[in-house]
Amino acid sequence: MRRKLIAGNWKMNNDVEESINLVKELKLLLKDADIDDMDVLVCPPFTSTYAISHEIKSSSIKLGAQNMFFEEKGAYTGEISPLMLKNLGVEYVILGHSERRKYFNETDDIVNKKIISSLKYGIKPILCIGESLTQRELGTELAVIKKQIKKDFENITKEEAINIVIAYEPIWAIGTGKIASNEQIETMCSFIRNAVKELYGSEVSDSTLILYGGSVNGENATEVLNQKNVDGALVGGASLKSAEFIKIINYVK
Ligand code: PGA
Repeated sequence: MRRKLIAGNWKMNNDVEESINLVKELKLLLKDADIDDMDVLVCPPFTSTYAISHEIKSSSIKLGAQNMFFEEKGAYTGEISPLMLKNLGVEYVILGHSERRKYFNETDDIVNKKIISSLKYGIKPILCIGESLTQRELGTELAVIKKQIKKDFENITKEEAINIVIAYEPIWAIGTGKIASNEQIETMCSFIRNAVKELYGSEVSDSTLILYGGSVNGENATEVLNQKNVDGALVGGASLKSAEFIKIINYVK
């Protein structure tokens, strides 16, 4: 049985005070939620990470980061290392998000280096992959995803691969309010599981967590999260309001 993972990606939102308030509200709401079979994760901006690490100490909320550099330390102005994240109790790191690929020129080669580094420090990567609207319209989405998986998993052993979470995020569904259809989601997530199976065998693919991300909200969460190969959600906009995020966590099983 795969445990569900509901992850909130706050992106470049919330100062320290707003972050603390949001997580406080969430802690209260979680008291009445049934989360025995799931993990709830928040990924605040770096400036709030330290404060949030204290705020969640006696709660079930897990801490994630939105990015990291692959080096441990040194002259890399403006970067954050896996060691620094580990030190704050960060358990997951989002890597290869389409916004990083688009605005910061992150290539699969860089994403691959970051995955290898995060695994070395015991931080679970949430690897984001997804096709653009043009690629889908051209009917190339499966090939695009396959290629991303092949490159992003390069030089990663079976023992390491089991710790990688994959988030399928069609770029056209991110922040647009235009969620992929159930069929598109399930088709792609099962395709991804198969691709992992081809690389590492069914022992790994059966336990790999595959999330869906892109315009998930309180209204559509139940449908998305009940798809056979969907093990959770990576939530952007709807994770910024505790009342909306809790609806996703409380989806009908
Ligand atoms: P969204 O973002 O939920 O706002 O569409 C998802 C993501 O980028 O992870």
